[in-house]
Amino acid sequence: MAATVIDGKAFAAKVRGQVAEHVARLKEEHGITPGLAVVLVGEDPASQVYVRSKGKSTVEVGMNSFEHKLDAGTSEADLLALIDQLNSDPKVHGILVQLPLPGHLDEDLVINSIAPEKDVDGFHISNVGLLGTGQKSMVPCTPLGCLMMLREHHGSLSGLDAVVIGRSNIVGKPMAQLLLGDSCTVTIAHSRTKDLPDVVRRADIVVAAVGRPEMVPGDWIKEGATVIDVGINRIDAPEKGEGKTRLVGDVDYASAAERAGAITPVPGGVGPMTIACLLANTVTAACRANN
Ligand code: GUN
Repeated sequence: MAATVIDGKAFAAKVRGQVAEHVARLKEEHGITPGLAVVLVGEDPASQVYVRSKGKSTVEVGMNSFEHKLDAGTSEADLLALIDQLNSDPKVHGILVQLPLPGHLDEDLVINSIAPEKDVDGFHISNVGLLGTGQKSMVPCTPLGCLMMLREHHGSLSGLDAVVIGRSNIVGKPMAQLLLGDSCTVTIAHSRTKDLPDVVRRADIVVAAVGRPEMVPGDWIKEGATVIDVGINRIDAPEKGEGKTRLVGDVDYASAAERAGAITPVPGGVGPMTIACLLANTVTAACRANN
């Protein structure tokens, strides 16, 4: 049977609508307009696209967007001074420093200089610790979006076998924590995992977050499993014409869709949910600042 396509684009539109309603209420009832500051250092083309898209979405739901574009040679001291200023600005409820940073900047130091309550990425060590111990925290946007789609599709995730392929701090590790929090039995697989096909074949939920185009073939997927594909990889597409490219996930969509019960497409799956969750986290930060 053909898999249900989990439409992240439609789901994200619904979440953004709920965020917009919440923003309108905060304005009306409390005179607060949530504000998100996004800091971009350098001119990485992909980061520029993401930052533009984040700013546009922020304004669309009625929030204030503060963009800070710094040149690639910005010193660590200057970047930390800007973050300090944003930390103490009451109009700024959320701060996001777009990663990766240029090599001369210490990412951990920079991220940990953001006030934890304004860390809408959930990357600050305090938020990582709170999530790991099951306490109220800022939750990283991509794994949060994946969890929301899984809950929407399954209802309860309790007792399900989940495998997360990839152990990054941004996606893999927090994803595993969230699934554990929803009472899944969680395996984190990575490049050193022995017999990855066998590990994936046992999973009711597969979250692929490795950044390798179509590395998970359909015959690794258990019949009826739910597949969440976090990968966004651009590959050559000579069939579309010379020099053309297309986006694919970490999962071979066509073959996986023949076996999965449900699957997210690329594009239009996890990607739109990440920004929707960033907006939701900013509203959460604004509400917490008001209480
Ligand atoms: N670069 C790629 N993904 C992300 C993200 O979720 N947050 C930040 N700050 N940078 C990123």
